[in-house]
Amino acid sequence: MNLASRIRCGLLLAGIFGLLAGEAVADAAKKNYRLHCMGCHQSDGTGSPENGIPSMRDEVGHFLQAPDGRAYLSQVPGTLNTPLSDGETAELLNWVMANIGRSSTPADFKPYTADDVRAYRATVPQDIPGMRVRLLKQIEDIQLGSAR
Ligand code: HEC
Repeated sequence: MNLASRIRCGLLLAGIFGLLAGEAVADAAKKNYRLHCMGCHQSDGTGSPENGIPSMRDEVGHFLQAPDGRAYLSQVPGTLNTPLSDGETAELLNWVMANIGRSSTPADFKPYTADDVRAYRATVPQDIPGMRVRLLKQIEDIQLGSAR
């Protein structure tokens, strides 16, 4: 094998391992969602709005349009109080954005990192329900603004 084909082969293998590693992360996140979130939010993320559990399906990504929305999603009690590490929580949030937020998640969404989650967890605001109301208002204003 000449050098060029060795490099090509190496790149191909690296690509395959990269894909497999990505899948393993997604599997772990899916399992963590089932263990820690599904009880309230349901397997498809539709929750139980009549009991105060908002639907996240095709909706939760809208929060990323508001400046503090990214932090908020990591600061709600469900996300905050898991026994998961900062890294596992970041992967779980990324999985939720892709598989439950789906079309609502902006195309330029930057995946959460362990450092993001650590920083957000260290600065949780007192009034999370109040923050939710404020964010929903901001999102509405942004959407009205762009529809004009
Ligand atoms: C005990 C029930 C419960 C569990 C378990 C739970 N949540 Fe929640 N979640 C809620 C409620 C209620 C809200 C609405 C905000 C609030 O009042 O705290 C919410 C809001 C959210 C939001 C923001 C969506 C919005 O519309 O405000 C995200 C994101 C979220 N949860 C993620 C998770 C994740 C990820 C897990 C698992 C690690 C989880 N939750 C576990 C009850 C729960």
